[in-house]
Amino acid sequence: MMTQPFDYSGRTVFVAGGTSGINLGVAQAFARAGASVAVLSRTPDKVRSAVDELGEIGVTALGFAADVRDYDAVSAALTTAQQELGELDVLVSGAAGNFPAAAQSMSARAFAAVVDIDLKGTFNVLRAAYDHLRKPGASVINISAPQSSIPMDLQAHACAAKAGVDMLTRVCALEWGPSGVRVNAVAPGPIEGTEGMARLAPTPAMEHIVTDSVPLNRYGTAQEIADCCLWLASPQASYVTGAVIPVDGGWSLGGASQVFTAMRNLFNATP
Ligand code: HXC
Ligand code: NAP
Repeated sequence: MMTQPFDYSGRTVFVAGGTSGINLGVAQAFARAGASVAVLSRTPDKVRSAVDELGEIGVTALGFAADVRDYDAVSAALTTAQQELGELDVLVSGAAGNFPAAAQSMSARAFAAVVDIDLKGTFNVLRAAYDHLRKPGASVINISAPQSSIPMDLQAHACAAKAGVDMLTRVCALEWGPSGVRVNAVAPGPIEGTEGMARLAPTPAMEHIVTDSVPLNRYGTAQEIADCCLWLASPQASYVTGAVIPVDGGWSLGGASQVFTAMRNLFNATP
């Protein structure tokens, strides 16, 4: 068995959107490294099952059923997490929504739904968490996406929202640096077994288009995203703030910009 290179025992981690996929993988990695972990998402069953899985690792786990679009609910969850677990050492903000849709046919409410969850939700989580972060020493990690810097067909909502997440990351890094709080983002590439890729590449043909466009020719894993987060929140990354780090097999070097154009016909959408 591989030895755990990071020790988060005695630390507290809060993962917004941490009940499935990549973010649950991140929550589990911090738990395996010894941290107490709290997760938040909308669906009570997902929250219960994530808390059970985290508890089985042998750490204290808390769960909150709340929508990141509801500032008061997010704030109440963070207050309770601090009361139960102590000041937050690590905050991960990763709640997001996505579906393929052309800008010209997407409703205003569809665009708003993604911006409200991804961007305004991230602001809500960071704003509500600030008072509960350990200062100095806390680390904030936003989960971004290649869409934040690369225009992609059928992704107007996610591109706009995640670009905002990256800029929020940089502004908060500026403002919170003097308090000793580091703020960074990780931008995963296409990750296997996730809801995101099930929505954006739902057929084997589409999966092939994606893997062909990734220089490393494969999907990544949630563990590979978690490994970056474990490092980013650790003392080994103590001079890193305001960074948006791609963990994407090189996808953002060029392939990501073409892949959705190639997939447009497969989705039968014609922007
Ligand atoms: C067009 C759609 C749509 C679709 C919903 N809408 N799905 N429009 N195509 N496939 C429209 C609805 O018709 C509605 O507009 C508006 O969006 C809001 O829909 P609701 O269902 O009421 O919203 P809500 O219940 O708040 O759900 C939010 C959601 C949903 C984003 C629409 O899909 C969701 O909850 N997603 C969370 C899970 C998820 O997406 N995970 C993947 C994350 S991956 P009207 O006008 O009809 O009212 C990711 C990046 C992946 O973020 C990057 C890979 C490289
Ligand atoms: P996922 O499993 O659907 O994860 C999204 C999480 O956010 C879930 O726990 C979901 O739970 C929660 N959530 C969604 N809307 C919410 C809301 N309004 N309020 C609170 N929680 C909410 O998707 P994923 O594919 O693993 O994506 C995770 C993150 O990675 C996202 O930030 C995504 O943008 C990013 N990303 C993913 C990929 C990929 O390949 N999948 C690539 C790049 C970036 P509930 O449904 O219970 O609310």
